[in-house]
Amino acid sequence: MAADVPSARSESDLPIKAVYGAGDLEGFDPQVQLGEPGQFPYTRGVYPNMYTGRPWTMRQYAGFGTAKESNERYHELVKAGTGGLSVAFDLPTQMGYDSDEAISSGEVGKVGVAIDSIDDMRTLFGGLPLGDLSTSMTINAPAATLLLMYQLVAEENGADPSRLAGTIQNDVLKEYIARGTYIYPPKESLRLISDIFAYCHKELPRWNTISISGYHMAEAGATPAQEIAFTLANAKEYVRAAQAAGLDVDDFAPRLSFFFVARTTLLEEVAKFRAARRIWARIMRDEFGAKNPKSQMLRFHTQTAGVQLTAQQPEVNLVRVALQGLGAVLGGTQSLHTNSFDEAIALPTQKAARLALRTQQVIAYETDVTKTVDPFAGSYVVESMTDDVEAAALELMQAVEDRGGAVAAIEQGFQKSEIERSAYRIALEIDHDERTVVGVNRFTLDEEEPYEPLRVDPQIEHDQRERLAALRAERDNDAVEAALEAVREAARGTDNLLYPMREALRLRATGGEVSHALRDVWGLYVPRETF
Ligand code: 3HC
Repeated sequence: MAADVPSARSESDLPIKAVYGAGDLEGFDPQVQLGEPGQFPYTRGVYPNMYTGRPWTMRQYAGFGTAKESNERYHELVKAGTGGLSVAFDLPTQMGYDSDEAISSGEVGKVGVAIDSIDDMRTLFGGLPLGDLSTSMTINAPAATLLLMYQLVAEENGADPSRLAGTIQNDVLKEYIARGTYIYPPKESLRLISDIFAYCHKELPRWNTISISGYHMAEAGATPAQEIAFTLANAKEYVRAAQAAGLDVDDFAPRLSFFFVARTTLLEEVAKFRAARRIWARIMRDEFGAKNPKSQMLRFHTQTAGVQLTAQQPEVNLVRVALQGLGAVLGGTQSLHTNSFDEAIALPTQKAARLALRTQQVIAYETDVTKTVDPFAGSYVVESMTDDVEAAALELMQAVEDRGGAVAAIEQGFQKSEIERSAYRIALEIDHDERTVVGVNRFTLDEEEPYEPLRVDPQIEHDQRERLAALRAERDNDAVEAALEAVREAARGTDNLLYPMREALRLRATGGEVSHALRDVWGLYVPRETF
């Protein structure tokens, strides 16, 4: 007897009609709303030929334990065919603390790799062809520190900094809204981010200086419209800050990049990606006066939805991730991470990580969706939904503007409260069986089968602390202290911070020491309680 079926309802946030037809596209002008692929407003994709020339970058987010263990995983991923690296750092690194600080205890090497110094960075990328790979680093408040360590190590290996390719997430505004790995107040954070834009324009011209993220807000409960609205509102704030710092928009905007989620609601997600490209192209041309087409292109990375993974019947996640990955590709992503099916339980095993990559390879090489650009173009439903998501997102972006822009709205708690309201509604729908989660509130098992997850070795913290003690004993501490004082001096003034930071790191100052030098001058951000 089939379980009683709760009322079927759309799993997406936008209402979806049972039938769409020509009437839904009345007045629709493809030349205005779409443009050709690789042409303004880029609705159909940022490149003229998209995947018909080259598939998206298969970029699996990975990193745990010590630099040595992560280095081994990167070698495995490159061998398995991944096109780019994506580094996960542990929380102390993400928060600008060293592994041997009391506050780091219990977190060293846990949710990502522990990187304290240039020594660890050398180990992390040992034997990898940094000149040929693009490397993404999910690091925000201390992004400059990790970028400079990476540049120093790549140069030691003969890489040409003007050719160095990769991305730092460096998107602190979303950290105030969701995720929480911020350090300094918004004003100082925006100054450091503008310094990174200026430094990379001069020293690392192929580096993507920021990955303005909607992913974490989506994981916190944001709807597709909220995800792109709050992300693009943050992006406008970065552009304004860089222009206020005297940068020309076409000098830095081509290297802005974005990061979104792919949920299982495939049609709405494809509409979301297409709407985001069109909104951003018009903002950059019409509001910021960008002339370079590359300044108007919204290039993005996608990760499949972590919150939609279930610990129950974890193999069912393979199906979810395949559908979510397909949605990202049909939506024109430039880079993709597919989650491992066991991630709702623990860190992914090597087999699960390989299966996640194989999922992308099946989409890329066994389906026909890469044979043509933007297959949904002209679709009654997807074009209608693209317009609907765009309209909803523009309304939310106006609400942020009405509050004084993204930073002011963040300080009023606007984005956070909007997302929390959506998260609560979704949770209620699941509890009331109005939103199906297979294996959780329908199609469940009487008894879950056991699954053996990967365990992180507790010895890591001890070994990492020993490595730090040796580093502090070997290096020239007077020279390091003088270099750190130069960082403080630059933080008090207006000189670009990255030059004194690079010198301190070259002398083997630790990431924590550099972050503390900035804390000494800027202090810490403490959000005001908003109710
Ligand atoms: N036609 C012409 N040129 C093309 C092309 C095509 N069809 N396809 C690619 N190219 C060119 C591009 O122009 C580019 O050239 P350039 O380097 O001179 O600009 C080159 O080939 C590489 O292509 P892309 O830039 O499209 O692809 P990349 O993979 O290099 O970059 C990106 C993609 C989105 C721009 C970049 O910012 C990126 O890789 N982002 C990844 C971010 C990431 O991995 N984040 C992980 C977050 S995990 C996290 O947050 C934590 C957890 O909690 C989720």
